[in-house]
Amino acid sequence: MIEQTAYAKINLSLEVLGKRTDGYHDLISVMQMVDLHDTLTFAPCDTIEVECQESALAAEAEANLVLRSARLLRDRAGVSEGARIRLEKRIPVAAGLAGGSSDAAATLRGLCELWSVAVPGPELASMAASIGSDVPFFLDGPTALVEGRGERVTRLPALSAGWAVLVCSQYNLADKTRRLYSSLTRDDMTEGAVTWQLIRTLGSGEFPPPGLYFNSFERVAYQTFEGLEGVRRQVLRAGGADPHLSGSGPTLYILFPLAEANRAYRLHAALQAEGLSSYLTRTVA
Ligand code: C5P
Repeated sequence: MIEQTAYAKINLSLEVLGKRTDGYHDLISVMQMVDLHDTLTFAPCDTIEVECQESALAAEAEANLVLRSARLLRDRAGVSEGARIRLEKRIPVAAGLAGGSSDAAATLRGLCELWSVAVPGPELASMAASIGSDVPFFLDGPTALVEGRGERVTRLPALSAGWAVLVCSQYNLADKTRRLYSSLTRDDMTEGAVTWQLIRTLGSGEFPPPGLYFNSFERVAYQTFEGLEGVRRQVLRAGGADPHLSGSGPTLYILFPLAEANRAYRLHAALQAEGLSSYLTRTVA
């Protein structure tokens, strides 16, 4: 049996540059893995089957993405075997943490191993991109520059090790990513300057300074996710000085250097005590 870890990501920056003619948007983003993860196991089987112990409805989209990834790889690699795939969910769904995309990438990796197929890197990356814009990043990581609609991934010097407190509010918004992209206006879009500045600070041994965590979705996320502004204020009151939005939200993250474990833990515990869904994670180095 083969096991794969599917990490969540946060966006240190996410600048949407403009709308394309194919319905997608060009972006430039620095993505960072955190150690909150799903676990996938792969065992031999005649057919492709996906089991998920999480309440079926909540994780249905992710299980479907896993199934699609498995079928795509099987068809492209000309494999006749199947697989029994078990998906253990921990990453909240539709949260801006790309859990489903990470599951998809883990499926490609796990099945290449189970079926002993060697797919060249660029071909695997193009399969990943056809499954979803965030999937290629998860074949690489843990810190990377992501461009195009998400398919151009360049590894970056790792962010210094630290803690990320994730505050994940629950909203039931069908087609969340598409809806948030389509709510963006020209004023939300930028030219990538902040991200390039952010990149220059990586690998310095310290976290980038506060002004470099730009996210184009900030305005539309606070508008769309009712109550998120209240959550942000709760985070500030509990001592989370600088909450940032991950992806198109609604997850907010607060970073702490490695030496500030106590502060990170205290914030996490305070948010939990207030009934918020908080996760204390480490950045993946
Ligand atoms: O690629 P993925 O299926 O995750 O994208 C979901 C939706 O988000 C797309 O259909 C598109 O509307 C929007 N999107 C976008 N630009 C991107 C990524 C996603 O407009 N770079």
